[in-house]
Amino acid sequence: MRRPILAANWKMYKTTGEAEEFLDRFLPRVAGVSEVDVVIAPPFTCLDRVGRRLAGSKAALAAQNVNPQADGAFTGEVSARMLVDLGCRYAIVGHSERRALFDETDDFVARKAGALFAAGIRPIVCVGETLAQREAGRTFEVLAEQLTGSLAEVPPGRAEELVLAYEPVWAIGTGHTATPEIAQETHAFLRARLVARFGPAAGRIRIQYGGSVKPENVYALMAQPDIDGALVGGASLDPEAFARIVSYQGSGEKR
Ligand code: PGA
Repeated sequence: MRRPILAANWKMYKTTGEAEEFLDRFLPRVAGVSEVDVVIAPPFTCLDRVGRRLAGSKAALAAQNVNPQADGAFTGEVSARMLVDLGCRYAIVGHSERRALFDETDDFVARKAGALFAAGIRPIVCVGETLAQREAGRTFEVLAEQLTGSLAEVPPGRAEELVLAYEPVWAIGTGHTATPEIAQETHAFLRARLVARFGPAAGRIRIQYGGSVKPENVYALMAQPDIDGALVGGASLDPEAFARIVSYQGSGEKR
């Protein structure tokens, strides 16, 4: 059984004051929501403030990144232990923006996920193909490689704590959402790969779709059998829009 998981990725948006304003408007709107997991990933600078506000709410705190080292001379970096200290329950790793703009490799993503597992934080591992790769018919090949590489350090017996996010790069921030059929076809492929890697536990791994998710398209996406949630960028910055996404007419847990 897979409980739907709707996550806000705020990227490099919002000061602490703006985050507070968001929560003032968002939390009352979702107070009655109980069938889905709600996750908010603010920038590092807001983690403490947002975490305090989320304590006692149903929403969980997430980081957008982590350094795989335990500690040391790594100026500007943040460790998994520091995220635990602030109450993070999830952390996003391998987002396509980090892969493309900061040259992050599958190997580095795998080490980050491994460090998160070791600290007791659930990784949200992102994979996705570019438009050129899809048009060249390489989507499944690219995803298989990202999956194998990025999940290399998932500890035995803990696969179900993993959240996978399928985010086609051509759909991120572009307004071009994958159709529910294209997303489902890709999620089913990813699920099959997870089964090959983790066996029956793969049936409990949640796979989120990400890329221009909005209140208007979330329901059709979530109705697909292998789409277990959404990782939302742009629309998650608006409390009203993200509350509508979280409150989509859920089809409940999936088997
Ligand atoms: P988007 O971003 O919803 O703005 O397309 C999704 C993401 O990058 O996680």
